[in-house]
Amino acid sequence: MGHIAFVTGGTGYIGSHVLIILLEAGYDVICLHYSDIHVASQCFNRVEEITGKKIKRYKGNLVNEASVRMVFEENKIHTVFHLAALKAVSESVQKPLEYYNNNVTGTLNLLKIMNEYKVNHLVFSSSATVYGSVENCAQTGIIEEQPTNPINPYGQTKAMVEQILRDLHISKPDMNIAVLRYFNPVGAHPSGKIGEDPKGIPNNLVPFILQVATGLRQRLYIYGDDYETRDGTGMRDYVHVMDLARGHLLADRFLEERKGVYEIFNLGSGKGTTVFEIMRAIEDASGKKIPYEVAPRRSGDVGLYIADSSKAHRLLSWTPQLSLTDIDTLEDRDTVL
Ligand code: WQD
Repeated sequence: MGHIAFVTGGTGYIGSHVLIILLEAGYDVICLHYSDIHVASQCFNRVEEITGKKIKRYKGNLVNEASVRMVFEENKIHTVFHLAALKAVSESVQKPLEYYNNNVTGTLNLLKIMNEYKVNHLVFSSSATVYGSVENCAQTGIIEEQPTNPINPYGQTKAMVEQILRDLHISKPDMNIAVLRYFNPVGAHPSGKIGEDPKGIPNNLVPFILQVATGLRQRLYIYGDDYETRDGTGMRDYVHVMDLARGHLLADRFLEERKGVYEIFNLGSGKGTTVFEIMRAIEDASGKKIPYEVAPRRSGDVGLYIADSSKAHRLLSWTPQLSLTDIDTLEDRDTVL
């Protein structure tokens, strides 16, 4: 009987890849899904097909305490991997209350119930957006000690939860908490059975470009070409979703070896890539020209983010194995070129 992992957000883009990594590492995995039963089943069925393992499924969501309590009542959870969150920067500017309720209240409910059932291991999905704008990070990369300064409600919710976890750890020193600050996840599992499959118009760059390449969208709108970057377009630190998912397993192993830690880790490649460079990489990989138009900057956006992930390398033995060239082959087959 392996460790029992409770994964919130398991039907999400990163969550579904974390399920694969945990199942393949021998965990028994439990998921709470609020989404439409068919969408959730499709995702869980694909993960079960890929791994040959079963996921124990519960319907509910973190703002419904009773549904969360049932998971803990019926299972001896060892580690919670908390990935469930609303995560679109621009949407969070339009709907802050929805973001605070879902991302913060939902987490408070989860933590309360974890404490009731004395579950002390938590791996929390945070984000580089907690940093806000960071001067000259192109040279050195952002370190975890950089003060957080989120400039949009989404980033605020992540920074707030990090603070809640820090305060909880002070009050309960036997809590073992790893906070993972994701930079920009891209790519998909090599099977092509799961990937980034956003509902409606994709917020994120890579799925949007892929939909232009497959003719689903007319053209790419580039949000600003006057940033202080190589070619003026926004620069990000793209990291393969399989590498990101593996970081969760390594974080839990790190917690296993220690008592009473609260540690934050950047998970990024340490390399910056601009919008134009991503677009050209996908044009080269697909042989398709991507029509584009330069549009005004997007609210909540910063010019560039690049991670210094040396702490994850040092303490988790985590280093990215996959690169941007792996994107085109690893997106969901439904949208693959
Ligand atoms: C990347 C670059 C855009 C779309 C990240 C995560 C997101 C969330 C917040 C998760 C930027 C430009 C994009 C488009 C464009 N956190 N762009 N046209 O904003 O860094 O968001 O942090 O933990 O999930 O991805 O990623 O992919 O939206 O944008 O020009 O149609 O591409 O301005 O410079 P972002 P993104």
